Amino acid sequence: MKPPDKLRLPLPRTPVLDWSSFSNKERPSQVHSIGDLSHTVFTTSGRAAIYQALLQLRLEPESLVLAPSYHCPTMIAPVILAGLKIGYFGIRADGLPNLNTVDALTASRAKAIIVPHYFGLARSLLEVRQWCDEHRIALIEDCAHCYFGSAGERPVGTWGDFATASLSKFFPVPEGGVLASAGNTVKALSLSQPSFKAQLKGYVDVLELATRHGRFSGINRALSGFFRLKNSFARGRANHSDTNAPAVDDDMMPSCDMGRIVQAPLSIALSLESILPRGRIIARRRQNFALYARHFAPMREVKGLFPWTDESAVPYVFPLWVEEADRIYQELRSQGMPVFRWDRIWPGTPQMTDDLGPSWSHHVLQFLCHQDLSEADITATAVATLTLLANPQVPVTAIAQ
Ligand SMILES: Cc1ncc(COP(=O)(O)O)c(C=O)c1O
Repeated sequence: MKPPDKLRLPLPRTPVLDWSSFSNKERPSQVHSIGDLSHTVFTTSGRAAIYQALLQLRLEPESLVLAPSYHCPTMIAPVILAGLKIGYFGIRADGLPNLNTVDALTASRAKAIIVPHYFGLARSLLEVRQWCDEHRIALIEDCAHCYFGSAGERPVGTWGDFATASLSKFFPVPEGGVLASAGNTVKALSLSQPSFKAQLKGYVDVLELATRHGRFSGINRALSGFFRLKNSFARGRANHSDTNAPAVDDDMMPSCDMGRIVQAPLSIALSLESILPRGRIIARRRQNFALYARHFAPMREVKGLFPWTDESAVPYVFPLWVEEADRIYQELRSQGMPVFRWDRIWPGTPQMTDDLGPSWSHHVLQFLCHQDLSEADITATAVATLTLLANPQVPVTAIAQ
């Protein structure tokens, strides 16, 4: 396998608007989406949707909310900001909660539980739903990784009392989330409207990102010139934090960028979510996921996290368990490959027996497979990974250039 010659690094870590985003060529059979649920409200992000879901539950201050030990900090920050107490459960090898890690006293005190469908490979929450009903615990089904598809016997998002989702992981939008419910009315959220300047910036940001990745053939050069000029006038750069950046310190809350959780989302996000055809998004993600699976299949040193056979899934990432994860992850990141790891765990997350969370936080690399990564991008990322795994002496710069 040889990496392609022209690779525009760093590869995009989120979907990017492209002429082909508007293409209607791919028409897969009807796939359920979170937006199809009977009650939906848009927010600025998945984390804002979790925050708003907690407010909908009208819990007493300091009520206990359970979350997984394997998490992105943006799943925990909303709980703290809502004035609630966080507790943890462990995870099993299939990514579902290990409910045996919740002792009887904790189960009797908990008022809500946040359960994610990791990687967009959603599973049945039948057992979790029954456990919640038995203990009178509200279930927040975190669908940040799976905007589309089904979770076992039911469509995604319909197991939870509330479901939350993230638009920016599936659409080429600068922000966006959804709070939804199949059975509960979502009470009106009190959200402040973004200013005209912020709205305008949203449109410009989408175009600028697309231009940076060379996505508007024909007018890319003209747009690049415009953005160069614009940026030479800009005095400072917005301080956007990357919540998937490698661990640096324990000060989680500032890096979770919670500033816009009580604002309404930008109109660019809502417009693109509603007008862009979904067929390409769904088909390209499946193709990219399958391509990673083919590249990684022959290696004995690495393994897909769990065998995945549900072809109706619309994945977010390809999860790969890697023994020598630190070196591989750092090298891939430094090269600009679209991979991340959830190694920033909220301080105070306990060690639990029969919990795979800590092992996944260290060993699981999440390879993005979004629709705006090409086959060549996926192959280059896989080849870089496999070469690093096969030869610890080879610096990654020699691989992908
Ligand atoms: C499982 C999960 N839930 C919630 C979130 C928060 O979503 P957003 O980035 O849209 O705020 C993330 C973000 O990475 C996530 O991975």
